[in-house]
Amino acid sequence: MIELSTIPDLKGWVRSRRREGHRIGLVPTMGYLHEGHLALVDEARRRADVVLLSIFVNPIQFGPSEDLARYPRDLPRDRHLAEERGVDALFAPSEAAMYPPGSETRIAPGRSAARWEGAARPGHFGGVLTVVAKLFHLVEPDVACFGRKDVQQTVVVRQMVRDLDWPIELAVVPTVREPDGLALSSRNAYLDPEQRHWATALSGALQEAHSAWRVGERSAQAIEARMRRFLQTFPEVQVEYIALAEPGAMAPVVEVQATTIVALAARVGLTRLIDNIILGEGVV
Ligand code: PAJ
Repeated sequence: MIELSTIPDLKGWVRSRRREGHRIGLVPTMGYLHEGHLALVDEARRRADVVLLSIFVNPIQFGPSEDLARYPRDLPRDRHLAEERGVDALFAPSEAAMYPPGSETRIAPGRSAARWEGAARPGHFGGVLTVVAKLFHLVEPDVACFGRKDVQQTVVVRQMVRDLDWPIELAVVPTVREPDGLALSSRNAYLDPEQRHWATALSGALQEAHSAWRVGERSAQAIEARMRRFLQTFPEVQVEYIALAEPGAMAPVVEVQATTIVALAARVGLTRLIDNIILGEGVV
């Protein structure tokens, strides 16, 4: 595995792979890798000839009161996991390489970023799109892999790819979970053992939604109420939002279908967690 940290080196590597006729798969991450990230690497390998993994804790997608400073980082461990999983190139730039002094341009997301995560984290999707756009521009990958764990991110990125006419195929990979249902996340590292237990409330509430669907409930309001009742049995878990949305642009729905996205954000202690399911699939 080759390690790249500057933009000229990245461009040089991309140019050589193209000259060899290789299809390039890109997996953008913020590191502290886990099996969710590595499932994206596997998908990129299936769809491309060479896999480029980026690791960059993107400061501009964090709000001023968010966890940028304490976001978990461990490049030596990530390097080892990436190499073991067959990543061809690891791009881990410094902040100065990505945003040199004086850089100020930002991609502005549209309507698909207005609700849910976008409302809870003002500026977040603008920061995500700006860094993803830079990576897309630098690499021009044939395929880029994203996790369904961050479902609204996939919607907003897909919209940008369409709006800016990027000839990039997007692959969305199902959420990888712990055996008890908790979605893998770098932020799970913040949880103490008690909080780790409470954190199962998120996938539990999503499974409640799926159970209601299975017995014929079709009202979004009723499903949300059932989820809130379930979550009330976890007083340590503070719900931020519950979304029942159609998968295209994540617009809210009144009547649910099998394809409806059920998403939620909640705080367990100071840790903010998100999760979602496709209603007809449940937690899988
Ligand atoms: P990060 O949170 O590191 O996630 C990187 C990618 O891994 C995202 O596409 C995310 O959806 C996916 N992922 C995370 N947990 C997952 C899980 N349990 N199962 C499957 N996929 C999972 O998302 C970001 O970084 C950033 O916003 C980024 C796109 C890199 C831009 O900075």
